[in-house]
Amino acid sequence: MVTPALLTDDVDVAAPTLADGGLVAFPTETVYGLGADARNPAAVARIFTVKGRPADHPLIVHLGDAGQLDDWAIDVPAVARRLAAELWPGPLTLLLRRHPEVDPAVTGGRDTIGVRVPAHPVAQALLARFGGGVAAPSANRFGRVSPTTAAHVLADLAGHLQPGRDVVLDGGGSTVGVESTIVDLTVEPPQLLRPGGVARALLDELLTGEPLAAAAGPSRAAGMLESHYAPRAGVVLVDDAAAAAARAAIAVGSTRILDYGDDVERYAAELYGALRRADDEGIAEVIAVLPPAAGLGEAVIDRLRKAAAPRP
Ligand code: TXA
Ligand code: MG
Repeated sequence: MVTPALLTDDVDVAAPTLADGGLVAFPTETVYGLGADARNPAAVARIFTVKGRPADHPLIVHLGDAGQLDDWAIDVPAVARRLAAELWPGPLTLLLRRHPEVDPAVTGGRDTIGVRVPAHPVAQALLARFGGGVAAPSANRFGRVSPTTAAHVLADLAGHLQPGRDVVLDGGGSTVGVESTIVDLTVEPPQLLRPGGVARALLDELLTGEPLAAAAGPSRAAGMLESHYAPRAGVVLVDDAAAAAARAAIAVGSTRILDYGDDVERYAAELYGALRRADDEGIAEVIAVLPPAAGLGEAVIDRLRKAAAPRP
């Protein structure tokens, strides 16, 4: 008997896997997600097991198009429709009020729900073929760096997924490289819960009259741990190349300097791969030069701070 393969690049294999209650790790423009049919409670429960994630951490529901919004959320405000029209498909997650027919296990028991329409062509093909909502966190083991290639997913999850039941859908590298921006639209004014692939300046422009507030209150707490996105290597943050060289000169053990100058897009696209590579090579300390805070720089700085935070 031929052992079924875990890895595929065929959407026509992956979409039926979702319908059969299996897990599909799939590419998005931000990072790879670990997806399940959001209407199948047993499949959703397996996401938490495979990821090693606490059950009270909410999942984002991925949709093929914004027309499905009202199947998942209620009281959708006009501002949500506007952001969806302008920025979907794209790296933006909207936090809305959960539709009562959505299993609370998807949202970690919360009455809010995060939804997004990803832009990656393979994700779009998968969602179009499947037809329903796909609940998916990033496809890494809990607390680790998010995966931006199928090889990263396999490195974390191959021992936890079941060939024949689950698949990893290879669609090449994620181009944005950091997770989606999360905006809470259930509060007034809207709050930025996580900086990400859509820059704050663009949101502020579209939210004319409703400037984004800093995250506060209960939704701030969900999964936004101080230490997260962490490689095994230590991470030290510095302001410029000279400070990085000075740190490397006194460091104990091997070091790797990350410095992308002002190129925040490239920093975002390559950050997680660089952190994983440092671990693969047994680097003791990553010395990261902080990028400017503009554009994707805000998200890169946020992830670097979390990677550098004291570990539990
Ligand atoms: O780019 C992304 O957003 C990727 C791709 C796969 O779409 N997904 C992703 O999912 O980063 P995850 O689960 O790793 O991170 C989602 C974050 C978590 O911190 C979670 O707590 C928060 O979003 N979140 C999701 N639903 C929420 C809700 N209803 N209330 C508060 N926070 C929520
Ligand atoms: Mg994650």
